[in-house]
Amino acid sequence: MAKLLITGGAGFIGTHTSLVLLEAGYDLIILDSFINSSPIALKRVSQISGLNSTELARRLKTYTGDIRDLDFLENIFKTCGQEGNPIDAVIHFAGLKSVDESVKNPLLYWDVNLNGTKTLLTAMEKNNCRTIVFSSSATIYGKAQSIPIQETAKIQPINPYGKTKAAIENILSDLTGINPNWRIACLRYFNPVGAHPTGLIGENPLGTPNNLFPVINQVAINKLKVLKIFGGDWPTPDKTAMRDYIHIMDLAEGHLAALNYLQNSTPELITLNLGSGKGYSVLEVVSEYQKVCRKKLPFEVVNRRQGDSAISIADPSKALTKLGWQTKRTLNEMVRDGWNWQVKNPKGYLEEERK
Ligand code: NAD
Ligand code: UD1
Repeated sequence: MAKLLITGGAGFIGTHTSLVLLEAGYDLIILDSFINSSPIALKRVSQISGLNSTELARRLKTYTGDIRDLDFLENIFKTCGQEGNPIDAVIHFAGLKSVDESVKNPLLYWDVNLNGTKTLLTAMEKNNCRTIVFSSSATIYGKAQSIPIQETAKIQPINPYGKTKAAIENILSDLTGINPNWRIACLRYFNPVGAHPTGLIGENPLGTPNNLFPVINQVAINKLKVLKIFGGDWPTPDKTAMRDYIHIMDLAEGHLAALNYLQNSTPELITLNLGSGKGYSVLEVVSEYQKVCRKKLPFEVVNRRQGDSAISIADPSKALTKLGWQTKRTLNEMVRDGWNWQVKNPKGYLEEERK
């Protein structure tokens, strides 16, 4: 079976996707610096996979290091080649993802996201590995002119994080010009949420969360007093902003579909939105949460957050046509699984790390 390098495989999207890929029969090398994740997450992936220790030792290897380190990357490619099992493709999650932090420290974001990716692509070129699935983001559309957003919409990121993602898409596009054998999927995620239904892996925000689902989770366990809803004057039916939330397992399956597509078609670069095509307002999410966790969640409407837009909803039809992939899970499942993860792991992976 094909061998994959998963950069950032210990993170939120990386763990869920690694699990789906393991279950599909792929052998994995997970590379992570653990700057925003925990080795416990990988232990849990192994646990859910149900593989015995011999199978795991053969099919799942972990390397700790940084994607900006070319020697480190080259060593991984070389070792796999020498073992007669070269890396066939890369799923590239590693990077920094906080909009706020990117505004405060843009050089760090350009260094990790752009230089890291450039180093990875250099190692891939040198080792004749030319298949990559890249984590892009709907954030590159900025404030989209029309809804639902198609892949042909204008790219106009409004923060350094988004700008690094747009720049990487450009580099990937340039690569196909120098070598037509590159097979590339740029996947523009909308709002990934939820967790694996076992509650063993999920989103593990270090520090204070900014995104809606982790914030609501913390309000629901009384760690935060109140949910601040950013803006009650948006041009939407209930006046709160609308987003296209996508269950993390649907997103993970989207990567499997993209990889299968790349491996079974002539080399090309595909750019796809991964979203549900449905939008929910902040108040609709809060209402679903209240039903699932069976308590009233205190909230107050405050001023709009800088950089937010009224509505962000994908047109996911290209992914359906190209990959035969579409989301299957409902908002209720996103909330139920996200809440289940929170209840089972009130401190994320921290408690098990301390054992
Ligand atoms: P995450 O932070 O949970 O995972 C990223 C992983 O990369 C972490 O395990 C981190 O330790 C690792 N990493 C960071 N810098 C590294 C480096 N220099 N070298 C090696 N490893 C490094 O984030 P995520 O939510 O799983 O996101 C994965 C990717 O998807 C990121 O590129 C992110 O920008 C992109 N994305 C995420 C979202 C989202 O809402 N979560 C939306 C759109 C795009
Ligand atoms: C944010 C990022 C986006 C990134 C995405 C990853 C910004 C401006 N955008 O998107 O670049 O790709 O996360 O998932 O940071 N909300 C509240 N109160 C809160 C938190 C959020 O009302 O405490 C609202 C927001 O205004 C928004 C919605 O909930 O309308 C979703 O917010 P969030 O989860 O942060 O995602 P985005 O802002 O869509």
